[in-house]
Amino acid sequence: MEDIDSRLFKFKGYNFHNIKLDTDFIETLGDFEVREDDVFIVTYPKSGTSWLQQILTLIYFEEHQKSTGNLETWFQVPYFEYSNETIDFTKRPSPRLFVSHLPYYLMPSGLKNKKAKIIYVYRNPKDVMCSYFHFSKKLPLPVTSTTEEFMKLFLEGRVMGSLWFDHIKGWYEHKNLFNIEFVMYEEMKKDLRGSIVKICKFLGKKLSDKDLDTVVTQAMFENMKSDPRANYDSILKTRFGIQEKGHFLRKGMIGDWKNHMTVEQNERFDKIFQMKMKDFPLKFIWDMNEE
Ligand code: PPS
Repeated sequence: MEDIDSRLFKFKGYNFHNIKLDTDFIETLGDFEVREDDVFIVTYPKSGTSWLQQILTLIYFEEHQKSTGNLETWFQVPYFEYSNETIDFTKRPSPRLFVSHLPYYLMPSGLKNKKAKIIYVYRNPKDVMCSYFHFSKKLPLPVTSTTEEFMKLFLEGRVMGSLWFDHIKGWYEHKNLFNIEFVMYEEMKKDLRGSIVKICKFLGKKLSDKDLDTVVTQAMFENMKSDPRANYDSILKTRFGIQEKGHFLRKGMIGDWKNHMTVEQNERFDKIFQMKMKDFPLKFIWDMNEE
């Protein structure tokens, strides 16, 4: 395993990936001027970020929905903390859409006036961890060769995004400070249409049935996987020089952790989960057949 900490930039207890990071901007995140109609998607990595980028792009940009435009979702809904070098946010027309992996306490303080909206997407952490393990072979994150090695780093928070438990608990416990909606990856998987309706309602967007059908269809895994505007394959090559085989949209399923974790690893994970998430009210879905 290579030295993982050389890949990370730690700021106020939170691990950023140091690739293409503008540290001056990071130091001023709290002062970033928020507009009332800004929308932020917030996720822990590998929880459905790119899925929400596609959904918001489809909802807000007619040319994306009608496939007459070819701007990629990462450009339409850029990373807040990682895109400053390429995009001048202050010049963007409203409503501005952003995506972020930040913990609640590093977000611009202007979000606390509860006007701009935040959609927090969460996913069961075993699938997050497995998805992350595969992704870490692509993005020059610390390269680990086994699930065991990666699980250790994940459970210690020695990855970009820091500790999963802190991220979700921090956001949930401070939800009253923000105008925030929690959306579950697994619910999207089980009922994509219902989840998109819920997202539209929160955003105050009314779609016709026909447009809703289009958004649902284009946000489906297989369609996103073959859509170069949404599948991240090109940006990984052009911006990060990644030529690895395999796709960013890998499996997109619930319960893939069962294919990766041993019984012992699963029991160890469960013990930590139960200890850290005791009394946490949001439920999690670990298996496709679970209600
Ligand atoms: S990142 O790097 O943080 O932006 O990654 P993120 O987009 O959060 O997570 C990637 C995982 O989300 C899956 N994904 C989807 N699943 C189902 N349906 C759709 N449409 C979809 N879009 C993205 C993607 O496949 C990654 O999960 P895994 O388990 O690795 O397949």
